[in-house]
Amino acid sequence: MEIKKVGVVGCGLMGHGIAQICAQNGWEVVVREIDQGQLDKGIGKVRKQLGRAVEKGKLEQADADAVLARITPTLEYGDLADCDLVIEAITEDLDRKLEMWEALDGVVRDDAYFATNTSSLAVADQAAATKRPERFIGLHFFNPAQVMPLLEVVRAERSGDDAVQLGFDLGEQLGKTTVAAADNRGFIVNRLLVPYMLDAIRAHEQGVGSVQDIDTGMMAGASHPMGPLTLADFVGLDTLVAISDVMAEAYGEDGFAAPDTLRRMVDAGDFGRKTGRGFYDYSGEEPVPVDSGS
Ligand SMILES: NC(=O)c1ccc[n+]([C@@H]2O[C@H](COP(=O)([O-])OP(=O)(O)OC[C@H]3O[C@@H](n4cnc5c(N)ncnc54)[C@H](O)[C@@H]3O)[C@@H](O)[C@H]2O)c1
Repeated sequence: MEIKKVGVVGCGLMGHGIAQICAQNGWEVVVREIDQGQLDKGIGKVRKQLGRAVEKGKLEQADADAVLARITPTLEYGDLADCDLVIEAITEDLDRKLEMWEALDGVVRDDAYFATNTSSLAVADQAAATKRPERFIGLHFFNPAQVMPLLEVVRAERSGDDAVQLGFDLGEQLGKTTVAAADNRGFIVNRLLVPYMLDAIRAHEQGVGSVQDIDTGMMAGASHPMGPLTLADFVGLDTLVAISDVMAEAYGEDGFAAPDTLRRMVDAGDFGRKTGRGFYDYSGEEPVPVDSGS
């Protein structure tokens, strides 16, 4: 099927980026949020990113305007009715996702495809909540979706070959590097990366190093582009807890359990970059490690 119109559900960290790259690729995009505030915030981020690209001379103003014009923000599921593909990027909570799919399944064209951007939940569990499990796949983008090259394409138990092929074709059209991943908890990348981030938090709890030194250590010693605690802040500490809870239950291994520090930070509302505070304080010009005492 040729994609012309994409629905994106959720306009947070991931949803706004997915909406933007789809619109940049020339597709009509309808993005749904739960309230006007979240919608404005997400679209504001898209506008800012496009503005930056214009400033840097990477994009013409007219093209940036055209990209924005292709994105229709909405609070109504009904506005996604004639989409060819709907990608969900809502909060990592199975009950919320199932409720959302139930609402969407009834209003979106029967021949449209559905995809979840979940980091850790089973694609098959979500597919089973719809009348179209053969048209349902996992499309796992990385943060920021506008920049990160990888797309994991996940075949769930009942995904049809055409749905999986659509996932690879979409990745190619968006200029992504695609890999096929099984429908296990965390697919390929998070299966390896989440225990690493959690271990870095445990290392910090155990006094192995300061926030800055742990991050610097992994950047300078392992050539990682950012340290694990910066990465955790970037992912969102609330999302990291949600992912680790799913993975800990699935794998039954201690390495996937959320450390106490992480839970306490999330309970306190410190979700990382998106709330301005996590392992670093982002209120100034430069991030400051919260354990630095400054
Ligand atoms: N943060 C990451 O690095 C990352 C990377 C890849 C995948 N993911 C996955 O992407 C999904 C979204 O994560 P995020 O980091 O963007 O979270 P986020 O908290 O930044 O955004 C989630 C958004 O979904 C909205 N939402 C909740 N229920 C909704 C509904 N029924 N309809 C429309 N909008 C709804 C919320 O208002 C919020 O704005 C999760 O499944 C997560 O696991 C996250």
